[in-house]
Amino acid sequence: MAKETASRVKHSDVWNAVPPDEVLFGRSAAMTAVRIHVQRIGRTNIPILLTGEGGTGKEALARWIHANSDYASGEFVKVNCAAIPGTLLESELFGYARGAFTGANFAKPGRVELAHRGSLFLDEIADLDLNLQSKLLHFLQDGTFSRIGDGVERRIDTRLLCATNKDLEKETREGRFRQDLFYRIHVFRLKLPPLRERVEDIPTLAEFFRQNFQKQFGMPAQPIPPQTFEYLQNLPWPGNVRELSNMIARYVLIGPEAAASAENMQKKSRAYGERSNGSALPLKKLAKDAMKEMERNVILETLRANQWNRRKTAQELKISYRALIYKIRDAGLVSRRHASKNASRAGDAPFQTPTSD
Ligand SMILES: Nc1ncnc2c1ncn2[C@@H]1O[C@H](COP(=O)(O)OP(=O)(O)O)[C@@H](O)[C@H]1O
Ligand SMILES: [Mg+2]
Repeated sequence: MAKETASRVKHSDVWNAVPPDEVLFGRSAAMTAVRIHVQRIGRTNIPILLTGEGGTGKEALARWIHANSDYASGEFVKVNCAAIPGTLLESELFGYARGAFTGANFAKPGRVELAHRGSLFLDEIADLDLNLQSKLLHFLQDGTFSRIGDGVERRIDTRLLCATNKDLEKETREGRFRQDLFYRIHVFRLKLPPLRERVEDIPTLAEFFRQNFQKQFGMPAQPIPPQTFEYLQNLPWPGNVRELSNMIARYVLIGPEAAASAENMQKKSRAYGERSNGSALPLKKLAKDAMKEMERNVILETLRANQWNRRKTAQELKISYRALIYKIRDAGLVSRRHASKNASRAGDAPFQTPTSD
């Protein structure tokens, strides 16, 4: 084995690893149903369509399915259909022959070929353009394809996993997704629940992320107090498990203030959500929010620089002590020290703003 040169865990190692079963599935009813299904059909070669909001763990589950299938000795090959523009995506998927187009100075196998005896994970499948949809359909029908500009018919054996956060039925009804392809990839569908419908899993997930980030950043972080879980279980989590993971990363890096900013961010994303649902958010309000956010950051930085001494901070910011206290409370800022003190008092909300010095 190659000598390990760096002791630090690489980011990619952490994120390509499949979380342990008890973390991935937790114990909520919604995820238990998912678990029962994948345990039955995961080992077959049936295509599986994973649906659910962004950040609910579609890719994590796809990796689990691969790792627990007969295709596990092959590669898990991910293709993000939304991230690569149409023409490029075709050569990315199916490869090309030398001289197939200007600049094709050598032949290149596509991702489909790399997935031979492994799993092909097509992420954001709803965004595949119509022309490529028919090429993919052709490949799925008989397992054959050819590289662009080369007539050689190639055959591979791969397990297909697809994911989308869009409503594929609607995409099909409205003509953006081929019906025949829809039926092909939709043999079995698993819907991942949003985090707000499985809040009992938040403690396990949060603790898992805390331990991972501690390792990854090489920074020890206090275990998360039980009262904090209650607080976290009451947030709406529009970004689902990804958002929780980001919050715990901030917790490990900067301490419990991270949670206050989690709540702020969720409020903000709700505001943006409202806007995108049609009711316009006035420019004035957006500007005010942005100002507040900037002000909050300046206050937080100054507080930290002064070890949370508020009198010094107020002097430095040239505002009155009272005004500072008001702003701290308004922005939901709290120091690590106060948070852990509050957390140790039973019944207290752990991320409350401190009321006195
Ligand atoms: N059930 C879970 N257990 C552990 N980590 C998870 C779980 N679901 C999601 N994650 C983590 O949250 C992040 C987002 O998950 P991902 O699978 O990319 O979501 P999606 O593909 O649905 O957008 C990833 O870092 C992933 O590892
Ligand atoms: Mg994803």
